[in-house]
Amino acid sequence: MEFDEVIISRKSVRSFLDREIPEEILNEMMEAVRLSPSFQNKQCWRFIVVKDKKIIKDLALRSGMISKVNFFIKDAPIVIVACADPAKSGMMNNQNYYLVDTAIAFQQMMLTAWNSGIGSCWLAAFNEQKVREILDIPNNIRVVAFSPFGYPKKKKTLYEKAVKTIAQSKKRKDIKKIVCFDKWSF
Ligand SMILES: Cc1cc2nc3c(=O)[nH]c(=O)nc-3n(C[C@H](O)[C@H](O)[C@H](O)COP(=O)(O)O)c2cc1C
Repeated sequence: MEFDEVIISRKSVRSFLDREIPEEILNEMMEAVRLSPSFQNKQCWRFIVVKDKKIIKDLALRSGMISKVNFFIKDAPIVIVACADPAKSGMMNNQNYYLVDTAIAFQQMMLTAWNSGIGSCWLAAFNEQKVREILDIPNNIRVVAFSPFGYPKKKKTLYEKAVKTIAQSKKRKDIKKIVCFDKWSF
């Protein structure tokens, strides 16, 4: 895809085909993370690529902040968990940069995947302790987000349609509401 097409067409995907992700695409996704910018180039992120179907199912069933909200990830061929070691990033202006570092890297990964037709969905509604428990993540490491990755189903599931409607996923603010020039003038 052209770069602008990647940005314009990207959307969250919550229903997946039973189709593996080729190793070369996975490698490109990893490389996109590796080359990401970070606070003082400290590269505090750590990514867990979960391919084991039993572990994916466990995450689908037990990782949700509320009940089984993440159940839809069960069909994805892989789930990637974005972690960070806050001690390996830094603070400035009272802002914790491990979150910024990891978010940039994860988004680079998601866009790289999308460029090859692979969908994902950033997940924040998880129970961090449960995710730690399932994946043996130590307590000093933060789980920033995770996402299923896979080829999108053509026909969206009812769940996916419902989430998109509730989240009003297609709606975006007018540019004037989010950008101003020279001085704060909102
Ligand atoms: C920080 C963040 C947290 C999110 N958490 C969830 C989540 O827990 N569950 C979910 O289904 N989608 C989640 N999303 C996806 C958003 O609902 C989605 O990006 C938004 O509705 C816009 O839709 P689009 O990504 O299709 O453009 C999250 C997105 C972001 C960036």
